[in-house]
Amino acid sequence: MKIAIVGTGYVGLVTGTCFAEIGVNVICVDTNSEKIESLKKGIIPIYENGLEEMISRNVKAGRLRFTTSLESCLNEVEVVFSAVGTPPDEDGSADLSYVLEVARTIGRNMQKYVLVVTKSTVPVGTAEKVQAIIQEELDKRGVNVEFDVASNPEFLKEGNAINDFMSPDRVVVGVKSDRAKKVMSKLYKPFLLNNFRVIFMDIPSAEMTKYAANSMLATRISFMNDIANLCELVGADVNMVRNGIGSDTRIGRKFLYPGIGYGGSCFPKDVKALIKTAELNGYKMRVLHAVEEVNDKQKSVLFEKLQKHFNDDLNGKTIAIWGLAFKPETDDMREAPALVLIDKLLKAGCKVRVYDPAAINECRCRIGESIYYATDMYDAALDADALMLVTEWKEFRLPSWAVIKKTMKRPLILDGRNIYDKKDMEEQGFTYHCIGK
Ligand code: UDX
Repeated sequence: MKIAIVGTGYVGLVTGTCFAEIGVNVICVDTNSEKIESLKKGIIPIYENGLEEMISRNVKAGRLRFTTSLESCLNEVEVVFSAVGTPPDEDGSADLSYVLEVARTIGRNMQKYVLVVTKSTVPVGTAEKVQAIIQEELDKRGVNVEFDVASNPEFLKEGNAINDFMSPDRVVVGVKSDRAKKVMSKLYKPFLLNNFRVIFMDIPSAEMTKYAANSMLATRISFMNDIANLCELVGADVNMVRNGIGSDTRIGRKFLYPGIGYGGSCFPKDVKALIKTAELNGYKMRVLHAVEEVNDKQKSVLFEKLQKHFNDDLNGKTIAIWGLAFKPETDDMREAPALVLIDKLLKAGCKVRVYDPAAINECRCRIGESIYYATDMYDAALDADALMLVTEWKEFRLPSWAVIKKTMKRPLILDGRNIYDKKDMEEQGFTYHCIGK
């Protein structure tokens, strides 16, 4: 089977490579020629565990190749996945211009049946628009070629994307013809050995499933952050509460960790877009408005704890930050809580020393040289009045506290992810603040 994937961003590249890995013949397409040239040389534009080796293996095996021209490969393939970006517009709705441009190119060039599958996260109704544009272009050419559209939203987590693709909890596919259903079944058949279900449904429901899933997960996080903040006020321990509620199978244990707010490319964007879709349909998503409000506020919680500790006198203090990426195992800083924190610290007159195992370059591009980029976690803690744990990378879990204590000016730790034990830290002579205890 031969397929094309348009867009070599995070989703496109992982999808293409994983399909190649299970034996599909894959052509990855991107209009950005620099990106395609780099990929041909084996240089990948994103940080994802195991992806580079997988790409190189499949390129060598001849199952994966890269091109800038969809036109040139369109008539060789049975399926085109569209995995181009849908950045938020100023009003929060998803910008569909890339998705619709792909549809136009397909309509202008197709000679034979093709199934056009949207993988990008797109509002309900987008598949209809894609179909209309392809048909419009076919009509302009005066040709009659059969085609189908489908929706196959992605549920990859950064840092675990290959695993998520290879052994997903479920695959959601929205179709409206038997032919499309057959093609998608054939494509995903090799994965069925891994014991998961392909859930077929109508296209609007598939489009909605992605937004509903991400919004539900974001809601769990904001809810737990609210509970954590209340725990602090009433003298409860959110960790115990989390264990207590998580053991109810209706609630479940996953995704209940309080922290300093969710970030990344998906949750903030998708929550906004769903609010917008509702607005366009004359409905107000009251819960999601609150989810956003809690999240915005939560990004300041660690800073507020620091301010309180120093009685609002932060001017001239040196603050160390461990972790910059919005979560571990990625260099992604989109909507990262670290950005809000650094901005507040600089405005308050602090000197900021940061360390992250992967996101230093990304941070430098965003913030520039107004902060110090440390070579390792101990370097970051040098002469610091406080150390703030922002991203829970594994390497931060068991540092040598004796060294840190000597390195720092004051033994003060603010743990934004609750990865250390309060009693333990206090026994080692640190003043310790965390979330929800
Ligand atoms: C998410 C979804 O999980 C994925 O299914 C979807 O396709 C894309 O969006 P991702 O953004 O890569 O994936 O990261 P995820 O691991 O879900 O974390 C999102 C944010 O939530 C991070 O900032 C993380 O720190 C935060 N989070 C997660 C919490 O604060 N508490 C939790 O319990 C879990």
